[in-house]
Amino acid sequence: MTRTTDLHTFLRTRRSIRRFKPDPVPDSVIQTLIHTAAFAPSAHNRQPWRFVIISNPDAKSRLSQRMSAEFQRDLEKDKLSPEDIQKKLKRSHERMTGAPVVIILCVDMSEMDEYPDTRRKKAEYIIATQSTANAGMQLLLAAHAEGLGGVWVCSPIFAQETVQNALEIPQTWEPQAMFLLGYPENQPSLRERKPIEEVTKFIK
Ligand SMILES: Cc1cc2nc3c(=O)[nH]c(=O)nc-3n(C[C@H](O)[C@H](O)[C@H](O)COP(=O)(O)O)c2cc1C
Repeated sequence: MTRTTDLHTFLRTRRSIRRFKPDPVPDSVIQTLIHTAAFAPSAHNRQPWRFVIISNPDAKSRLSQRMSAEFQRDLEKDKLSPEDIQKKLKRSHERMTGAPVVIILCVDMSEMDEYPDTRRKKAEYIIATQSTANAGMQLLLAAHAEGLGGVWVCSPIFAQETVQNALEIPQTWEPQAMFLLGYPENQPSLRERKPIEEVTKFIK
């Protein structure tokens, strides 16, 4: 049985890993990660998370290219210099293609509650995405438990249709995030956390 202190250490030693060894990740390990991710709590236990797992190098590269085209249009709108744009696109492509496994996390609203009014519709959507994020966090922790590293990347949420079309996934699977996973090349140092007093209010 894991001791509480060990569990805290485990949780505090997870790091976002962005550089990976080229070693492939066995399918059985990926399945274990997804299985554990699906133990996350979800509103009404509807489990609105969906996962698209990509380990084929050509598929990763195709997805990256399609996303890059949209990323580039956004960066041009932001008036970044062509050099800065190329630098960002190159980094993003290298990261995606350098990760042995890419997982796209989607939310599916089709089994969530339906409401006639905008306020509750919006709340239900947030509840579904919160539930999906729980699965994302659990996926990262499961990866950590397996000695893998990973990072949450938000770019798919800025290119939802592009990702859906590139992966040929159902329209109801709305891309929320991307996870780059693999065996870590390095162990980054701790990114500083705000003091707890700054982010809490105790009411006794
Ligand atoms: C919702 C979310 C979106 C994130 N998006 C990105 C991203 O697009 N690119 C990236 O390199 N890291 C991204 N991260 C990782 C954060 O930068 C990282 O968690 C934070 O800097 C703390 O570092 P740590 O995870 O190593 O503790 C994201 C994390 C979360 C939770």
